[in-house]
Amino acid sequence: MIDPERGGRTVCVFAPAKINLYLHVIGRRCDGYHELDSLFAFAGVGDTVSAAPARDLTLSIDGPFADGLKMETDNLALRAARGLLELAGVNQGARLTLTKRLPLASGIGGGSVDAAAALRALMMLWDVAPDPQAMADLALELGADVPICLQGRAAFASGIGEISTPCPFLPEAWLVLVNPGVAVSTPAVFKAVAGAFSKPDPFFETPRDAVELAELLARRRNDLTSLAIGLAPEIGDVLTALGSCPNLLLARMSGSGATCFGLFANKVEAIKAAAKIKAGHPHWWTAPAFLLNRAPSPTSGGF
Ligand code: C5P
Repeated sequence: MIDPERGGRTVCVFAPAKINLYLHVIGRRCDGYHELDSLFAFAGVGDTVSAAPARDLTLSIDGPFADGLKMETDNLALRAARGLLELAGVNQGARLTLTKRLPLASGIGGGSVDAAAALRALMMLWDVAPDPQAMADLALELGADVPICLQGRAAFASGIGEISTPCPFLPEAWLVLVNPGVAVSTPAVFKAVAGAFSKPDPFFETPRDAVELAELLARRRNDLTSLAIGLAPEIGDVLTALGSCPNLLLARMSGSGATCFGLFANKVEAIKAAAKIKAGHPHWWTAPAFLLNRAPSPTSGGF
């Protein structure tokens, strides 16, 4: 489809919420970053980044959570775009639009998945494919989990979150994501890490269904949970509310919070649980979504 303004195509990329199905903190590096063992996956709810041809590089933001970002002087998606422009020696711009549906500073990778989506959209729009290692380096400069978001595949993460190892295929399962509307600072949560570290615990068996996945995850944790609850006690309320939902298989926090997820075997149970939580807490952000092994590919041609 022709872009009405510029006579070119628009590339649209879905930026799915990233979910840490478990997250063990296994050490601390000399530079203060923490070493992790985590299972990253994605959810069928997210932001959208679109890129249309333009002479200059610009970003406009819309969607239900746009307001919190409009105050920012330097958005991560725009920084990603500038980085790619330089890396690929591109001599044109792009009109980027970010539709922000995920709550901000919420442990489901909003900034990281948007940056990764901007890179994927612009690689397609500008028809460039820089060396994969250079792309991974650029992604890591933007944030520890941007490389895995750029890869867009469920995986075990190690290092500070940037090294990915393939994980077994994840079964059909549904999530209910719940955020109490409290922004949690990732550096503040990591700063509170003290005491003994966990051991890495990736698994090799392929869970046949959501029940088996829940069993595997139940033996693992998110080590940041109690620290995040110390900063934002509402996270405890979210976990309690998820815990009261019929047919819940497992409830955990994602990343450094405050978003938590409930795991369900099917869509009907997830939708019922989301409705129950929404009824009790109308101001919380609540979203049922399927569990994704892969972020969808960019689509070209407008929407
Ligand atoms: O790289 P990113 O911007 O996601 O990290 C934000 C902050 O979170 C870092 O500055 C660091 O304080 C903390 N962090 C950490 N260990 C990690 C990832 C993040 O300590 N693996």
